[in-house]
Amino acid sequence: MRITLVGTGYVGLVAAVCFAKLGHEVIAVDREPVIRGLKENKLTVWEPQLEPELADVYAKGLLSFETDLARASSDTDALMIAVGTPTRSDGHTDLGHVHEVLSLLMQAGTCPPLVIIKSTVPVGTCDELEATLLAAGLHTEVAFNPEFLRQGSAFSDFMEPDRIVFGCKTPQAESLLRQLYEGIEAPVHVCDRRSAELIKYASNAFLAMKISFANMMSDVCEGYGADIRHVMSGVGADHRIGPEFLSAGVGYGGSCFSKDLQSLLTTGKLIGSSLPILEAVAKVNEQRIPRMIAKLISLWGNPLGKRLCVLGISFKPNTNDVRDAPFLTLLAQCERHGIEVQAFDPIVRQVGAKTVQVMDSPYAAAAQADAIMIMTEWPQFAELDWPYLLHLMRRPYVLDGRNLLPSQIISQIVEVDGAIYMPVGR
Ligand code: UGA
Repeated sequence: MRITLVGTGYVGLVAAVCFAKLGHEVIAVDREPVIRGLKENKLTVWEPQLEPELADVYAKGLLSFETDLARASSDTDALMIAVGTPTRSDGHTDLGHVHEVLSLLMQAGTCPPLVIIKSTVPVGTCDELEATLLAAGLHTEVAFNPEFLRQGSAFSDFMEPDRIVFGCKTPQAESLLRQLYEGIEAPVHVCDRRSAELIKYASNAFLAMKISFANMMSDVCEGYGADIRHVMSGVGADHRIGPEFLSAGVGYGGSCFSKDLQSLLTTGKLIGSSLPILEAVAKVNEQRIPRMIAKLISLWGNPLGKRLCVLGISFKPNTNDVRDAPFLTLLAQCERHGIEVQAFDPIVRQVGAKTVQVMDSPYAAAAQADAIMIMTEWPQFAELDWPYLLHLMRRPYVLDGRNLLPSQIISQIVEVDGAIYMPVGR
């Protein structure tokens, strides 16, 4: 197939490369500076495998880049839209970028027979977009095909998904979508567009709920001297529950969970539903960083002027993404309490905030610190020379916000004079 894909952010770029790998001819469209960077293999997102895979399909001529949408979509089988859909301050989803794409199509007066929305959009959006195109004389079906990939494991998630969802109206659209995904072995779930739009939100909301549930239970474990890791592995062993997304810690971050939860809450309000479970999920998550700060204060007494070494800036390992990272919330709260922050991350080298010093090594970040807080579960943090790290500090206190450190490292830590190791939920 020949497809045009608009939007080369995280999802769009990975999808473009993967569809090209499947043998389709893909034209990726974005603004001029972004396309210029992509042609030189300068990527704005960091994802394992992305650079070499992109270079490979580009060299084979399966992936090309374009800035002119009308030209790029004049002779293609389908147009896929993967532009950003951020949440506005009033809680509604900002569909501005999606509408911009439609305006360009309407100006050009042509559109491929199928428009596939990959961006996460509120329920009812595809119906509205199709009506808009029709009113402009463009007879095109708008289908919804959500993406479930995770940052850091985007390629395997895309090529080996648990399921593929098609929200479409006609057998012709379904057939084109099936052709597009030929070569990927996964159950295909075909349904109406509104249900497909909700599948995406409900999936992210459910995952966030699992995390908040584990975090809530971790507070109970702390209160009663139980171990959240045992509790959740015992709970997750029930196949009806499943073991994943039950790791307690500093709370979920990233550009998806909070945004999608907020958007779903707003969608509910529009029909008079308050969706109380989701309110609680968000609330539990918001309490995670204040709880970590309270632990620090319990160790220090007065936090004013203390220095905190933070290991991990990105919202999860294997990405440089700091959007909605728990680190940013921690930073804001440290500033309020007069706590100095020195941070280290294997990939993130700068943060748009003056209140943190980003250091070149974990050892530099630990120098003269009054505590270390592990914010992101980068596996390499478990391989550091912990006795030496503690030796560099003013106070040898370690808050393991991700329960990352294995027992042999914990034994080394607690052997150091005056050292305190504080995990989450045990
Ligand atoms: C999430 C979903 O997992 C994807 O399926 C979805 O496609 C994507 O959002 C999206 O909508 O675009 P992502 O945000 O990349 O993917 O990352 P996750 O692996 O889901 O992690 C999100 C946050 O939850 C991270 O901060 C992570 O540290 C945290 N988390 C995850 C926990 O605190 N505990 C866990 O057990 C699992």
